[in-house]
Amino acid sequence: MIPINAPQIGEEEIVAVVKVLKSGTLTHGLGAGPVVMKFEKAFAKFVKAKHAIAVNTGTAALHLAIVGAGIKRGDEVILPSFTFVATAEVVAMAGAKPVFVDVDPETYNISPRRIEKAVTKKTKGIMPVDLYGLPADMQPIREIADKHGLTIIEDAAQAHGASYKGKPPGAFADAACWSFYASKNMTTGEGGMVTTNNDKLAEKMRFMRSHGEKEKYKSLMLGHNYHMPEIQAAIGCVQLKKLPKFLAKRRENAERLTVKLKKAKGLLLPKEHKGYKHSWHLYTIRLKGAKGKKRDKIIEALRQKGIGTEVYYVNPIHVMPYYRKFGRYRLPETEKAAKQVLSLPAHPGVTARQIDFIGETVLRLLG
Ligand SMILES: Cc1ncc(COP(=O)(O)O)c(C=O)c1O
Repeated sequence: MIPINAPQIGEEEIVAVVKVLKSGTLTHGLGAGPVVMKFEKAFAKFVKAKHAIAVNTGTAALHLAIVGAGIKRGDEVILPSFTFVATAEVVAMAGAKPVFVDVDPETYNISPRRIEKAVTKKTKGIMPVDLYGLPADMQPIREIADKHGLTIIEDAAQAHGASYKGKPPGAFADAACWSFYASKNMTTGEGGMVTTNNDKLAEKMRFMRSHGEKEKYKSLMLGHNYHMPEIQAAIGCVQLKKLPKFLAKRRENAERLTVKLKKAKGLLLPKEHKGYKHSWHLYTIRLKGAKGKKRDKIIEALRQKGIGTEVYYVNPIHVMPYYRKFGRYRLPETEKAAKQVLSLPAHPGVTARQIDFIGETVLRLLG
């Protein structure tokens, strides 16, 4: 099976982990061990941010940013439903209400026009998601946020290496949240990072990462244990160095697949409009007009041919049992996309020959 995603781990990561194990320093009481700090510095430089705060998952990064921004019970946060559940989960965890807004049918990212319509007196934040690695349309979102005094927390979990108007994710946001889960463009197994240019927010999030402590056993605020272990940070330092190579290979694979699939009828291919740089975390195609069954049959046939095909996301969050309590939503573009999209393997472990095989198999199945 050609997996939909595969961590790219080599000898250097193993050496880095062993070095940490031998050092005897596995973590730090306030979450800021020497290797974690090195990783934070390198990551902040990579995304051109003033601060980077390493944590143990992307979900923790999102939670830290939401609570750090002061979002609480009674507040509303606008976000897409067509995303991984963590984006909405952290809003609910903070006691606030996720308000779901529909996506653009071509990019699958939150539609700025629809955000403006969803703003109420209770709105405190907007969470755009850079879905599949394609940045959201951040400039109009920034304008809406400024007009209404809202905080933007960008979910860049899938977007390492992407850019928008020449700037990395986070440039138009108050904070950006990253994931280093095993499937991501770079990994630490599990892990996450918040980046921000806001000094006050950064300081607060550093305390909250470690039980609200500035110094041990003297909590200043409510916090959690979101420490990234030193082993993870060591893997992260190596992966970050390799990231440009990974991204180049992802791009090569995506472009090769696009050339193959251009001939297909009724297929919407992923686009990279002017001003956007895709990180190609997922190569997602859309069967125009399909109602779900046709799409699922094609997925099954692809899997039988050994092509790991997945749907991100088959259940938009607003239809999930737990999240229905936040209101009955009709999000036609989201619901249609959830029935028509499928993602194909294009990660750095996929060879050119495999890409050709994937492309030809899709063309044959579509007839
Ligand atoms: C869009 C999105 N948001 C949030 C997350 C949560 O990240 P993690 O799995 O590291 O907690 C992920 C990844 O799984 C994601 O893809």
